[in-house]
Amino acid sequence: MRRKFVAGNWKMHGSMVENAALLNAVIAGMSQLNNVDCAVCVPYPYLAQAQNMLTGSNIMWGAQDVHQLEKGAYTGEVSAEMLKDFGCRYAIVGHSERRAIYGESNLIVAGKFAAAQNAKLVPILCVGETLDDREAGHTESVVAAQLDIVIEMCGVHALRNCVLAYEPVWAIGTGKTASPEQAQAVHAFIRNRVAGHDASVAERLIIQYGGSVKPSNAVELFSMPDIDGGLIGGAALVAEDFLAICRAGN
Ligand code: G3P
Repeated sequence: MRRKFVAGNWKMHGSMVENAALLNAVIAGMSQLNNVDCAVCVPYPYLAQAQNMLTGSNIMWGAQDVHQLEKGAYTGEVSAEMLKDFGCRYAIVGHSERRAIYGESNLIVAGKFAAAQNAKLVPILCVGETLDDREAGHTESVVAAQLDIVIEMCGVHALRNCVLAYEPVWAIGTGKTASPEQAQAVHAFIRNRVAGHDASVAERLIIQYGGSVKPSNAVELFSMPDIDGGLIGGAALVAEDFLAICRAGN
């Protein structure tokens, strides 16, 4: 049985004061929940704050991106080893905002995945199609290409130490959630594709859904057989909403 995993992706939101209030409330609420895994992926400058506040709690933390190389003249970039210095367990790679706004290709994302794993971080690999892709009937081929390149570069066994997040781009921050059936269909497609390489890796793989998850739809989404939790944007910034979503996975 896979445990549900709910992670917050704060994106470019927060301040020392706001974060302290949010984290204190999440720490208190999560102390009541033992059957769900929980993490927050915060902006880089707040990793130290997350580490200070969350050490000793049942909430893990991580970053929203990572550079694919170890070190060098890459102004503004952050390496996986640097994230380790702040106790990160996770690094999101390939979020659709990184792909669309910063032009990250499938190959770059696979490099980031490898860099995270080399530093013993757990990558949260985001995949998902745009509305145009979906309407053209290309959902599966787009998701397959995003996944296959990681398997080619790192091997299927690398998927033992990662999390996948299916985030249909058209559902992110739009209030338009994929229906549980639409999401389940893509999650099952992903799991079957991995099973084509290794059935036991596929069986254990945590596949989160992301895209307008809210307290009102989390229970239904998480009840689908291949949906193992969620990657939460907007609702992760409101303690009671985030906790309600965590409770849905508990
Ligand atoms: O990574 C989470 C995300 O992209 C979903 O955002 O605001 O639709 O929950 P949101």
